[in-house]
Amino acid sequence: MANSFFEKINYSACNEDSESERKALRLTTNDTVLCITGSGARPLDLLVDNPVKIISVDFNATQNYLLALKIAAYKSLNYVEFKSFIGLENKFSREDLYKKLKHLLTSPQVFYWDKNFNLIKNGLLYCGTWELFLRMMAKAAFFRRKSITKLMASETLEIQREYWRKHWDNAIWTSFLKLVSNRFLWTKIIREPGALLIPKEFDVYEYMHSRMNHLASNHVLRTNHFANLLFYGEYKSDCILPLHLREENFESIKKQSHKIEIITDSLLNVLDNKQLTESITAYSLSDFSSYSDTKMYNKIWTKIIQHSTNGSKFCERFFLVKRQPEIFHQQIKRDYLLEIQLYNQELTAIYTFCAGKLTK
Ligand SMILES: C[S@@+](CC[C@H](N)C(=O)[O-])C[C@H]1O[C@@H](n2cnc3c(N)ncnc32)[C@H](O)[C@@H]1O
Repeated sequence: MANSFFEKINYSACNEDSESERKALRLTTNDTVLCITGSGARPLDLLVDNPVKIISVDFNATQNYLLALKIAAYKSLNYVEFKSFIGLENKFSREDLYKKLKHLLTSPQVFYWDKNFNLIKNGLLYCGTWELFLRMMAKAAFFRRKSITKLMASETLEIQREYWRKHWDNAIWTSFLKLVSNRFLWTKIIREPGALLIPKEFDVYEYMHSRMNHLASNHVLRTNHFANLLFYGEYKSDCILPLHLREENFESIKKQSHKIEIITDSLLNVLDNKQLTESITAYSLSDFSSYSDTKMYNKIWTKIIQHSTNGSKFCERFFLVKRQPEIFHQQIKRDYLLEIQLYNQELTAIYTFCAGKLTK
């Protein structure tokens, strides 16, 4: 999909809950995973299960530059420095920290980060198009600051549900959701190419409204990392961070960060490399359907099936473009019970899943 949208960083923090992939893929020390890079959060999160290798693919080179920079930060810094570098704190100079890790980057990566140092300076976690949009929205909601503070201060689910029902889910909220679900905004103003692939009959507003109700009824927002991004535009101190950003996982990820191989190319091309695909036992596919038309989507699944071994595990996410690959590929055995569990438990609430095993 040729578009200048894919020449900049669009995802920088984490808009997924990798516990879903962990439950679906149940990675062991024998697994090699093909992963889509995005913000880099998922390939890093999946290291906590100690797989043999993670092949992280994105056709957007800048997403991979971001992952390479995050990996260099794990390798060179301690956790306190890492927190400052990534944007969670401001204790150390980001310029000094960047000098400390720069030698681990390739020339194109150094060229990009030198030129775009402001992205590091302002906090890497929040430099993506989505994260900047959420920050802007959080700022624009200044007139609801008191309500946001009250909502996010709810200590229990019961208190939160009550507040949501009585004070939050009102005309201001639904108007806001209608505004951000508007196709014109996404296709013409934000110029998000994926917006063109959402089926016309899919009611984005209804979907988002019901999923936000699910989120507020089932997860304490104060500690939920996705809710922190949604309502504050950043991770606040009460937030339970995504796996790879937590102190308890830092040393393990540092030790294993060499296991991530980064490839800048389309999934389709990567899947053509037989030498590479032979070793893959698990696919963590994120929502590539958001950026693939039906033809491309089916081609990608055809390649996955062609090159994978019997029993390979997969976990694909769908955001607003829902697909049924099993209709064309009988080798795809979906685990519907598991998918429903993930749909109900996922901390972000916005995805549905296609998860299971391939039988050949
Ligand atoms: C849809 S986004 C989702 C981001 C994810 N939720 C996150 O937080 O990282 C996934 C990433 O897949 C990449 N992508 C989509 N289709 C692809 C394809 N066919 N080949 C390679 N990369 C692809 C995009 O560039 C984007 O960075």
